[in-house]
Amino acid sequence: MERSDFLKKTFMAAGGLATGSSLNAKIQPSIKSFANSQDPDIPLDVLNIFDLERLAKERLPVLAYDYYRSGAWDETTLKANRESFEKLKIHYKILVDVEKRDLSTTIFGQHIDFPILVAPTAFHKLAHPDGELATGRAALKAKTIMTLSSLSTTTIEEVAEATNKTFWFQLYINKQREYTRDLVARAESAGAKALVVTVDTPLWGRRERDVRNGFHLPPGLSAINLVKYQQDGIAKGQTGAGLGQSFSWVLDATLQWKDLEWLATITKLPIIIKGVCRVDDAIKATEHGIKGILVSNHGGRQMDSAPATIDVLPAIVDAVGNHATVLMDGGIRRGTDAMKALAQGAKAVLVGRPVLWGLAAGGQQGVEKALSMLREELDLGMALSGCRNLKELNRSLLQG
Ligand code: FNR
Ligand code: LAC
Repeated sequence: MERSDFLKKTFMAAGGLATGSSLNAKIQPSIKSFANSQDPDIPLDVLNIFDLERLAKERLPVLAYDYYRSGAWDETTLKANRESFEKLKIHYKILVDVEKRDLSTTIFGQHIDFPILVAPTAFHKLAHPDGELATGRAALKAKTIMTLSSLSTTTIEEVAEATNKTFWFQLYINKQREYTRDLVARAESAGAKALVVTVDTPLWGRRERDVRNGFHLPPGLSAINLVKYQQDGIAKGQTGAGLGQSFSWVLDATLQWKDLEWLATITKLPIIIKGVCRVDDAIKATEHGIKGILVSNHGGRQMDSAPATIDVLPAIVDAVGNHATVLMDGGIRRGTDAMKALAQGAKAVLVGRPVLWGLAAGGQQGVEKALSMLREELDLGMALSGCRNLKELNRSLLQG
């Protein structure tokens, strides 16, 4: 189906397209399209992730754009994630031969071309009819890893194929543990290389724009991997519009550390816990045998007033960096942001919204564009700072 037909059909009852982008007036999207795609090209003057967001806004229904961009309550954490990056300075080194640079690394046994991964985000078909397939193919092409959300609109098996089994699977542990057992077995047998278990979500955070918009999935879309579990008639817990209304049954507010021990007994995959913001929690995680710590505040969508992730990252690296692989996400919009997190000791970073903006703006090519812009900025930033590889990207760069 053509993209415009898809959007019209999918969003007929959902509030129309977001409008008012200044980019719209300035830039006419090129009419030439790629041979294998109905998507308009990304205009040549989209130079960075902020430009891509403006284009995405223009091409997205309000309901979807608001869902993607929102943070919880006053969005102070959403803003803090960015502000803290902006405050950190890079003390570049001079007169280093940086002609040859290597951004590659190995993470849980997977070799990747550069240390920027795709964070799990829900419902990619809200952005584009190719949904998670487009994202997965773009990640594969960029030689990085896509993390598939539990709340995807494409099946695990299809994404496994699109990513050539290089993907990670993000898990919300369900109150009905047999459902989680089934889902984990499915992800593992499809070829997922790690499980990212999200632990900052006992209930859904309240994103007020979604409440006002009455956020819901348009007819024809579903959290396709979970549908069969929902049919068993689990009672709704959290009320109110937004995710709380339709997806409260996905979560388990009783989740505790012992449940992670249980999870380790039902899978051979490495487990990464996502949503850590405190040193004591990071230490507890390693005491429970967890090998991956993803420092994250869910992109400011869960506990508002939580600290910016780049601010808590260094102490967590100091506490557990020798026992676990520390990753981070939240607010990365420039290669320099990734540089700062890597210099603070993150093994790699993940990006959520930048990928969604790319997907909405141009499907697979849009995601490729988002990833390549970030990669090129990281590469240039390293060159301009006298870093030839990720090892040389260390804390000395953040001190004068
Ligand atoms: C998310 N995030 C998320 N996390 C998760 O564990 N499972 C999920 O299904 C989702 N879904 C989701 C949807 C949308 C629209 C957003 C913006 C975020 C959080 C995500 O993995 C990541 O932590 C943040 O997006 C990182 O912040 P940035 O890069 O968006 O600033
Ligand atoms: C979100 C969920 C799905 O942040 O994690 O919307």
